[in-house]
Amino acid sequence: MRAHPLRVISVFFFLFILYQITSSKSLLYSPEIFTVSSNQTLVSPGNVFELGLFKPNISVSCWYLGLWYKEDPKRTILWVANRMKPLTKPVGTLKFFDTNLAMFEQETEIPVWLTNLTGEGVRSRMVAELVDNGNFVIRDSEGYLWQSFDFPTDTLLPQMKIKVLDSFPSKEDQHKLLYPWFSPSDPSLADESFEIHNESNIIAIYNGGYERDTWNGYQFGDMPPVLELKEGWLVMKTLKNSSYSRLTIRQSDLYELYSWNSKAKEWILTWSSTPCYERLLENQCGSYSYCSKKDMSPATCNCIRGFHLKLERKRNDCVRKTALHCRGYGFTKLPHMKLPETISEV
Ligand SMILES: *[C@@H]1O[C@H](CO)[C@@H](O)[C@H](O)[C@H]1NC(C)=O
Ligand SMILES: *[C@@H]1O[C@H](CO)[C@@H](O)[C@H](O)[C@H]1NC(C)=O
Ligand SMILES: *[C@@H]1O[C@H](CO)[C@@H](O)[C@H](O)[C@H]1NC(C)=O
Ligand SMILES: *[C@@H]1O[C@H](CO)[C@@H](O)[C@H](O)[C@H]1NC(C)=O
Ligand SMILES: *[C@@H]1O[C@H](CO)[C@@H](O)[C@H](O)[C@H]1NC(C)=O
Repeated sequence: MRAHPLRVISVFFFLFILYQITSSKSLLYSPEIFTVSSNQTLVSPGNVFELGLFKPNISVSCWYLGLWYKEDPKRTILWVANRMKPLTKPVGTLKFFDTNLAMFEQETEIPVWLTNLTGEGVRSRMVAELVDNGNFVIRDSEGYLWQSFDFPTDTLLPQMKIKVLDSFPSKEDQHKLLYPWFSPSDPSLADESFEIHNESNIIAIYNGGYERDTWNGYQFGDMPPVLELKEGWLVMKTLKNSSYSRLTIRQSDLYELYSWNSKAKEWILTWSSTPCYERLLENQCGSYSYCSKKDMSPATCNCIRGFHLKLERKRNDCVRKTALHCRGYGFTKLPHMKLPETISEV
């Protein structure tokens, strides 16, 4: 039996459409020019990551070149190229320019983003590639010339690393720091960075000018062990029992660990930095009280055993339920407790 010609055409047409939808590339060879948009993207060879344009605020015409997990229907942004200079139209042009890769607003000569490599001598043919670990790299026959992993935005993906600083960050270190987004609809830099300092061999997270969780040789505070100390850098790993993880700095003092749930196809918040720090810093938990943080529920101030809240004060000061008599008293164990990191808070 001969196939109906219309059916042949429709099958062919369907395959053509399918090809159009799924045709995606991971490589750009110089001097190729690539028009990028929200549906004309670069996709890593294993279909893991996608790089394309996104718009963080529906009502504002600002477009950015960003990276997301390909499976993520929400396209949660994991890296942004042109944080400070958005495109005003939903299309951009990626092209090689003076031994650099740059993104231009269409029909203009001014780049909104460029790799800013110093062009030394003649280079062999340059290639831009989106790798399956989420690294966007520029390479030639000699090796990598530039990689997005050296320019993190607010998120660490497995295999990315953050420098342990010995002193205040130098100008060269500046791009190695993580800066939260200015706001959920604006990826430009917030005022305060997330830094890791080594002060007299105490390695700690610093942000908002405060020392936060300290490194105990294995992990920072109660953050699950997703960072590994290697030669002065902390390298991000995937959390055990998770298919994929990310650490995102949401505000200078709020950092969160997410795990990818491949069944539900969404990022699950697995751990969050303690709101206890704020409570302690703002003196919300007063005398004889402790701040408690359980799983993801909000932190609360509680009185230690044998004490109750002194109600007339605004601050959560606690007082003894019964007066102390110097007879028959012992010590009470307070398990899973930790003193604040800095003297001023004790
Ligand atoms: C996305 O693709 C559709 C058709 O498939 C097209 O109409 C639309 O203009 C494209 N959007 C962008 C931003 O390129
Ligand atoms: C490129 O790098 C040079 C020196 O390294 C610096 O002066 C210049 O501001 C950079 N330009 C951009 C657009 O980042
Ligand atoms: C989007 O931008 C507008 C104008 O700047 C602002 O009023 C609005 O709050 C923003 N939306 C969100 C979700 O942040
Ligand atoms: C921290 O600094 C000390 C010197 O003060 C140095 O010996 C040690 O190797 C540093 N540790 C890291 C992880 O950088
Ligand atoms: C990982 O999963 C195993 C078995 O599924 C379980 O026994 C173990 O407690 C889990 N570990 C963590 C850290 O969740």
